[in-house]
Amino acid sequence: MYKIIIFLLTMGKKLHKIFCEIKNNTYLCSPLNPPQGGLRGLILLFMQTRKQPHPALSQMLSEFNRSLMLIADQTLLIGNFISKIKQIFLVDNVFVFLLDENTGKYKLQNQDTSSPLSRGQGAGITFHSKNRLIHWLAVNDKELLIPESKDIIDYLPPEEQQKIIQLNAELIFPLKVMNHISGTVFLGKKTDGMPFNKDEIDLLTLIFNQAAFAIEHASLYELQKDRIRKMYRTDRLATLGELAAGAAHEIRNPLTAIRSTIQYLSKDFNNDPAKSEMMNEIINETERINKILQGLLSFARPTKLNISEIHLKSLINQVLMLIHSSIQKHHIDVQFEYFTENTTIRGDMEQLKQVFLNIFLNAIEAMSENSEPRSLIISIEKGMAIDAGKHYLVINIEDSGKGIEPKDLENIFNPFFTTKEEGTGLGLAISYGIINSHEGEIEVTSEIEKGSCVRIKLPQISI
Ligand SMILES: Nc1ncnc2c1ncn2[C@@H]1O[C@H](COP(=O)(O)OP(=O)(O)OP(=O)(O)O)[C@@H](O)[C@H]1O
Ligand SMILES: [Mg+2]
Repeated sequence: MYKIIIFLLTMGKKLHKIFCEIKNNTYLCSPLNPPQGGLRGLILLFMQTRKQPHPALSQMLSEFNRSLMLIADQTLLIGNFISKIKQIFLVDNVFVFLLDENTGKYKLQNQDTSSPLSRGQGAGITFHSKNRLIHWLAVNDKELLIPESKDIIDYLPPEEQQKIIQLNAELIFPLKVMNHISGTVFLGKKTDGMPFNKDEIDLLTLIFNQAAFAIEHASLYELQKDRIRKMYRTDRLATLGELAAGAAHEIRNPLTAIRSTIQYLSKDFNNDPAKSEMMNEIINETERINKILQGLLSFARPTKLNISEIHLKSLINQVLMLIHSSIQKHHIDVQFEYFTENTTIRGDMEQLKQVFLNIFLNAIEAMSENSEPRSLIISIEKGMAIDAGKHYLVINIEDSGKGIEPKDLENIFNPFFTTKEEGTGLGLAISYGIINSHEGEIEVTSEIEKGSCVRIKLPQISI
C-alpha cells in the first residue's frame, strides 16, 4: 500500500495538504496548467510507502491479543498487559487503575515487584469517579495527550494535576465498558525520547478498547468465583454453627452441675492447702471451658443485639486504648485514614468492640513475629450505594504481619481453627457471627510475609 501526499499550491499562496491512499504504483508529478496558459498553480504528488509493521511487532501484537483472550485471572492479565505495552510501545511506565465498585475509587492494579521504583511512584494514588479527570475521559471518550492538552490540565484541580505529575504521565486512556469508565491507563514517556505519534495512539486506542473488555470479563469471572466461595463458606459456617451450638448446649448443663458441686465440696478442704489448691485449679479449668462454650455459642447464635447509635471512629479509638500498652511494647505504628466524616452506624457497641479487639489482637500477634517496621493501618470509607438507601461503611484493618498461608485462608473463620499454641481459634469465628448479625460482611485477604487485611462492611442505616 502506498501513501500519496498531494500539495496544492494555489495563487492565494494557500497550501492544502491532502492525503489519499491507492493500491497501485501510480506515480504522478504534474504542474497545474490552466487552459489560458501560464502557471496558475502547482500540484506536487509525492509517493511514500507506508512503513510495514515490523514482523516482531505483528507477532507481539498477536501474542498480546491471544493473552487477552486466554488469561482469566485479573492480576495476571493486567501484569501481562502492562509488560506487553511497555515492550511494544517502549514506554517507561504503565499504570493501570481499576474502579472498585464498592467505594467508587479507581485503585492502582500494578503488582510489578521487579520495579519497586515504578510501584512507589503510583503507591497511594487513587482517583474517584467524581474526579474531573475521570469525568473528562467519560465525556470525551478519548485519550488525553498531556503535552498537547495544557487547557484541559489547567481545568483539573491541583490535587489531580499533582497525581498526573507524580505518575509522570504523558498519555492517559480511558478503559470504557458498557458506557462507563471501568479504569484508566497512564502511560509514561517513551524510552526513545520521541513523542507518541498518531499511528501509535490509534493502535493503543484499539488495544485498550479490547483490553477493557478482557479485564471486565476477568473481573466478572472473579466476582462469580467469589460469590460461589462465599456461598459455600456461609453454608459451611452455618452447619458448623448448628453443630457447635448443639454440642455447647449439651456440655454446658453438666458443666454447671460439676462446678457447683466442686464449689460446695471445696469448703471441706479449707484446712488442707494442697487439696484446696487442687480444687481451685478444677474450678479455674471449668471456668475456662465455660468461656470457650460461650465463645462457641456467640459464633453460632449471637446474643440479641443491643442496638444503639455508634460512632465507629470513637469505638475504634476506645478499643485501641485497651491495647495501647501492647501496641507500644511491639513498636507498632498505628495510622488512621478516615475518608468520610460520618462514621455513625447503628449496632451493638459491646459486640462490635469485641470484633475489633479480636482483629487488632490478631494483627499484633502476627506482627510481633515479624521484624520492624510494623504498621497497622485502619481506614474507614464510604461504600458506594448500590441500591437507594443501602449505604454502608467499609473498614479496612491492614497489618504488616507474617500473613496467612493460602491453604489456611479458607479456614480462619472456622471455630477452633488456630495456628497459635495458646489460641482457641474462636476470635474470628465469633467476629464473623457478630458482623453477620449486623447484616454486614467480613473478608480477609493476605500475602505471606507482607501482611493481612481484614475488610468489614457495615450498613449505615438499616437494622
Ligand atoms: N492478622 C492476621 N495475620 C496472620 N494470621 C492471622 C491474622 N488473623 C488471623 N490469623 C490466622 O487465623 C487464625 C484464626 O484466628 P482467630 O482469631 O479466630 O483465632 P486465634 O487468634 O488463633 O485464637 P483466639 O482469637 O481464639 O485467641 C489464627 O490462628 C491465625 O493463624
Ligand atoms: Mg484471635
